[in-house]
Amino acid sequence: MSESKVLLANADVAGIESLAVYERHGGYRALKKGITQMTAAEVAQAVLDSGLRGRGGAGFPTGRKWSFLPNDGRPRILVCNADEGEPGTFKDHYLIHRLPHLLVEGMILSAYAIGAPRAFIYLRGEFLQGYELLEQAMAEATAAGYLGEHILGTDYALDLQLYRGAGAYICGEETALLDSLEGRRGIPRMKPPFPATAGLYGLPTVVNNVETLCAVVPIVEHGGAWFKSMGTEKSPGTKIYSMSGSLQRPGNYEFEMGVKLSDLIEAAGGLLPGRSFKAVVPGGASAAYLTGEHIDIAMDYDTLAQSGTMLGSGGVIVLDDSVCIVSFTRRAMEFFRHESCGKCTPCREGTLWMDQVLSRLELGQGTEADLNLLLDLSDNIAGRTFCAFGDAAVAMVASSVRLFRQEYVDHFTHQGCPLLRERVG
Ligand SMILES: Cc1cc2nc3c(=O)[nH]c(=O)nc-3n(C[C@H](O)[C@H](O)[C@H](O)COP(=O)(O)O)c2cc1C
Ligand code: SF4
Repeated sequence: MSESKVLLANADVAGIESLAVYERHGGYRALKKGITQMTAAEVAQAVLDSGLRGRGGAGFPTGRKWSFLPNDGRPRILVCNADEGEPGTFKDHYLIHRLPHLLVEGMILSAYAIGAPRAFIYLRGEFLQGYELLEQAMAEATAAGYLGEHILGTDYALDLQLYRGAGAYICGEETALLDSLEGRRGIPRMKPPFPATAGLYGLPTVVNNVETLCAVVPIVEHGGAWFKSMGTEKSPGTKIYSMSGSLQRPGNYEFEMGVKLSDLIEAAGGLLPGRSFKAVVPGGASAAYLTGEHIDIAMDYDTLAQSGTMLGSGGVIVLDDSVCIVSFTRRAMEFFRHESCGKCTPCREGTLWMDQVLSRLELGQGTEADLNLLLDLSDNIAGRTFCAFGDAAVAMVASSVRLFRQEYVDHFTHQGCPLLRERVG
């Protein structure tokens, strides 16, 4: 299967980050169609018909999420989640850098569809260049009459604000993001109430990912049915896969949903010379491992979930035979231990404990009992924490013990990493 570039169709065009070049390549055509020829309800219906599922990780249908907003007269708010902290995922960063106007256009259309007079982009604090590019794009869009008062001469007005995040992975979780956006420390809120009923400042709020909002542009331009005709029945459209790890050409690749893992690896130039495939983490550090038997698996939400892992935000980390699974897993756990917000005990204490157990296993000082302890800890964290961070933190560990138990055993029988010893002699 070859690449199907929809969002990234013009990503390589020189100067596409500027309004003039973006417009020359069809930019803001969808906005003109959506705002001047369609009602808000028709734009929302197109998104519902498209079957678009949120690209932030959970894959929740976007049109349905929008439909949960209550009709109680309170002003609605749209928030773009541009925090992108998942290790292995870098597609939102790329979209913002190459196509800032696509995001701005998608946000105006989405805000129009849900009837929001106010919208925010919550941008990861470290994305300084992205901040400057978005600021520039918003200023250009305002000057051109696409943003602000009387958009394209209509009665619709949108106040779009750009906000730099606080540099914590947990601020990507939508309710922690809302707390952070309100100026507090980002910690997940109790759900319910969900943001649709009580979000930013208690107002009805939709939080959507960057890629989700960008996808609204081609959906409005070409119609929901067109988008739905691509991908699989339950995971329609195209998806940007962030390919990293042991690959010759790591980067972002856009394919129809359901593309085979082997096709993605081929598109990314294949494995490094002389290396063989060992494992893949298909949805960033929050996903469970898959091994060679899944090399042709369809990369969509449902197929991956049925195989005990997840597509998440599409960060595909490919590992070859030179990678030590114990070390790789320990490094991921170090990240989760560091990023746990500390609100609930199983996550705060459990990630610390698992990091300690994995560290001693990596050094060859673990025992067989440690493997059972890791599984036991995983069982006591998954599904028992305040937010989905807990599930994410243990997915890789539990699957590593199931799939690569012998590699752990080799560490404590050889008192260290056999692969490392092979390399250093
Ligand atoms: C720990 C954690 C981190 C998250 N980080 C992000 C993130 O960086 N970007 C994102 O879009 N969604 C992230 N999410 C998912 C959001 O909570 C939310 O589901 C998403 O922004 C909704 O957008 P969508 O419906 O367009 O996918 C995270 C979730 C969790 C539990
Ligand atoms: S699961 Fe972890 S990140 Fe989520 S609220 Fe509990 S301590 Fe915080």
